[in-house]
This record gives sequence, structure tokens and C-alpha cells, in this order.
Amino acid sequence: MSNIKRIGVLTSGGDAPGMNAAVRAVARTCIHHNVECLGIKRGYNGLISGDIMPLDNSNVSGIMRLGGTILFTARCDEFTTKEGQEKAKATCKYLGLDALIVIGGDGTFRGAQAVSELGVGAIGIPATIDNDIACSNYTIGFDSACNTAVECIDKLRDTMLSHERCSVVEVMGRHAGHLALYVAIACGATAVLVPEYDTDIDNSIIERIRRSRIGGRTHFVIIVAEGAACGAHALSEKINESLGIEPKVTILGHIQRGGAPTARDRVTASRLGQYAVNLALEGKLGRVVAMNSGELFDYDINEALSMTKGLRESLYDNMNVVSW
Ligand code: F6P
Repeated sequence: MSNIKRIGVLTSGGDAPGMNAAVRAVARTCIHHNVECLGIKRGYNGLISGDIMPLDNSNVSGIMRLGGTILFTARCDEFTTKEGQEKAKATCKYLGLDALIVIGGDGTFRGAQAVSELGVGAIGIPATIDNDIACSNYTIGFDSACNTAVECIDKLRDTMLSHERCSVVEVMGRHAGHLALYVAIACGATAVLVPEYDTDIDNSIIERIRRSRIGGRTHFVIIVAEGAACGAHALSEKINESLGIEPKVTILGHIQRGGAPTARDRVTASRLGQYAVNLALEGKLGRVVAMNSGELFDYDINEALSMTKGLRESLYDNMNVVSW
């Protein structure tokens, strides 16, 4: 028999397709175990102000296929202060929360770490299009964002091909290149620029376009991660200077965070949401749940935040060998 009677759930940081599926899974698992579930609005802002919505079967019904998050999301500056955290602790007490489940990225988990240190046990569910949570191979939203970016870039390719042009496309990912690399492979890009590798523009990017041109190609797609050392516009200028090609720059931007989640994100969110509630009911708090090779794991939140994650080298190699 668990002591946990009431669980709060919030979404925080940049939204990611599949967050709603995770909220639904948390609420439905709570209902299954006769535990009350409170949705906390606007991330940690709602935890400070007590802005909540009780979640029941009816208000989580039909949300799985929706992009965004019905709980709204925000990055909360006040919560980074000691005073803000104390206010949040008081709200948790007032609301009678026995545990808190937070859905988001590493900033969200740092919030969960702070709340846990104040005595409100939290569990993190990784959800970010950046896929940059070290303890988890996969984060909710990544697959949907990849597919959105690929769909856009396929469309760009049509017009680049007709006009025999070069397209330089910036994709999101903050400081990480996972999204850029995946998208580059999936689009058959000529080259990719990611923050994890120190790329010599002349010997790699320019040379790859040159070789591709010699091979007969007349249009090119170059993917640049937003965190790469050389930005899309600077790279475009370098291409122009070196090859006399005037690329068209497209910044895909926030469109990558929108849209209905893919089946992979819906299923991952459903599984991680249930797993997080089960952990809470077992009294295992201060954890981050993870999906590694299709299996579910959980890590101490401090350990999870101290881990690092690089790009998978075999993927980078695959891009370099197969994609032209
Ligand atoms: O972390 C998700 C993400 O979309 C990053 O890829 C990007 O750098 C950042 O959020 C953008 O944040 P904002 O929506 O606050 O501009």
C-alpha cells in the first residue's frame, strides 16, 4: 500500500510533441491506482502561484494526438531563486502533493532536483526535441521534430532541384547536434555541421559540395545545427566565396516543435508516464526515467544531471559515407 495519494504533473521548458501523451499517461495511471492527479499550469510558474487543473479521465481524453501541451509551458526565472523555490515548496504543501512529475529537458530536471532537495520528491520524464538528455537514448518529441524537419526539407529540395540551387538549412537542437545529424541522414543532405565536431569548413563542407558537383549534382542541401560554431548565414557566405554558389538560407525554427506527435512519441510517452507514476507509488522519488534500447530505466536525478551525451559516432560516419 503506497503513501502517495496526490501527484502533481507539469510540463516545462520548450514544448515537444508527445508531452500531452505523457500527461495523459500520468493521469490515467494515477486514476488506475486511485491516486489524485493535479495538472500544474505553466511549468514552475504554476508551482509558485498554485495555478492548477485537476486531471481526470475526461480532460485527458483525446489529447494524445495533440501537439503542444494542454498544461502550457514556460521557462520560470523566479524558480531559479531560493525564494521562488521556497514559495513552490509552500504551494506543494498547500496542495497536499506527495510527489511531482515534471516533463521536459535538463532545465526542467534541475528544477526537479531543487524541489527534491526541499523535500518534495520529484520524477523527471525526458521530453525535448533536442534529444540531449544524457541518461536516456531517446527523448519524447525527437522523432516528431525529425519528421517535421524532413518534410520541410523535402519540399525545399524540390525547388532547389528545379532551380539548381544550394540550400543551407538551420535546424534546432540548442547545444546538441542530434536533430541535425538525424535529419541530415534522413534527407540525404550533402553535408552537416554539428556543434560536437570541430569541422574544417573548407576541407569538409566546401570539399563535399565540390565533389558532389563533379559527380554531376546541381543542387545541394546543407544542414546546420543551431549550436554549430559557424551559423547558417556565415556558412552560406563561405560557400559563395569559395564556389560562386549563392545559397538560400532557411531557418526552420519553432515549426519543428509543433504538430501531432508520431506513433513513436505517443508510445514512448505512454510508457514513460506510466513508469514514472509506478516509481512514485513505490516511493522512489528524486529520479529521472529513461528509455534505452526500448527498455525503461530510472536514474538518481543528481547522477542523471551529471552524465554527458555525445553524438553517436556511427551515425556521423554513416552520414559522411552514405550521404552526398
Ligand atoms: O530545447 C528545445 C528548443 O527548441 C531548442 O532546440 C531551442 O534552442 C530552444 O528550445 C528555443 O527556445 P525558445 O522557444 O525559448 O526560443
